[in-house]
Amino acid sequence: MESIVSVNIEIEKDFCNFAKDVLTGLSQSPKVLPSKYFYDAKGDKLFQQIMDMPEYYLTNSEFEVLETQKSRILDLIGSESFDLIELGAGDGTKTKILIDYFLHQKTNFCYAPIDISGNVLDQLKQDLHQRWPQLCCEPVQGDYFDALENLSQSTDIKKVILFLGANIGNLQLEEAEDFLSHVGEYMQKEDIILIGFDLKKDPKVILDAYNDPKGITAAFNLNLLHRINRELQADFKVNQFKHWETYNPVTGATRSFIVSTCEQTVHIEALDTYFHFNAWEAIDVELSQKYDTTMIENLAKKSGFEVVEHLFDRKGYFVDSVWRKK
Ligand code: AVI
Repeated sequence: MESIVSVNIEIEKDFCNFAKDVLTGLSQSPKVLPSKYFYDAKGDKLFQQIMDMPEYYLTNSEFEVLETQKSRILDLIGSESFDLIELGAGDGTKTKILIDYFLHQKTNFCYAPIDISGNVLDQLKQDLHQRWPQLCCEPVQGDYFDALENLSQSTDIKKVILFLGANIGNLQLEEAEDFLSHVGEYMQKEDIILIGFDLKKDPKVILDAYNDPKGITAAFNLNLLHRINRELQADFKVNQFKHWETYNPVTGATRSFIVSTCEQTVHIEALDTYFHFNAWEAIDVELSQKYDTTMIENLAKKSGFEVVEHLFDRKGYFVDSVWRKK
């Protein structure tokens, strides 16, 4: 059990990082804010609603891949005992498809969900225990790389790493390369990683997913300004900003912006700073990169992997790509 002192130190560190990133981002031109700060309690709820929206096809597409290809995934794992490690497990909804199947096939595996949020992991562990009391589940709270380091030290059993949900798309291409190279440092030759990539497709389908008619995505993005108001004592008039989405079919970059609808100045007390916005000035808040198979193969090569197999949904909207180290 963590002591109150270490929890307080963590909270303070989070606060300092948030304050520092907001100061750096809003002092830049063009202004930027990192999308990882979308996920406070309200942001988590809104993201859950996004995943349930019919327009946000990514959820169903990846479900379909895992449901229809679970036996192929087990063939590709090619071993009866392994550690199933999930980076950014969240509520593990999709992974339950694999867990259920692997248990039915009587494989001997231990599930190690890694997440930054201890609450999320406690809930997941309880939920999994209720469904499958026999499941070996060893959640690891914290940074992905610290967790991988620990998991690599305690065992040399085969690792099957999951990075689902197109989370890779929230990294710039070079960041994705660095991130995956780093993950590769904790992998042995026989280990595999399964990564969910959202694919290039009809631009209208993509834009509809990030620009839904009910405005849930807009609320999700603008919630970041509410968070800054609350946590950094700022005075953003959130109704004077709007959400704007773009998709570049050449590069696959899908970008979310928060646009100031008028000239205005915002005071952030915790930073003791005023930020000026010109009318229609934008804050770049999120990249959701869409890939094609050539881009995925290049990314695998550049980060020290080779593609074992691409597992697509029927529409060809999404791929779970299985890689091993080169
Ligand atoms: C978490 N991530 C993969 C989502 C995405 O599609 O980029 C976040 C999101 N942003 C707006 N809608 C969903």
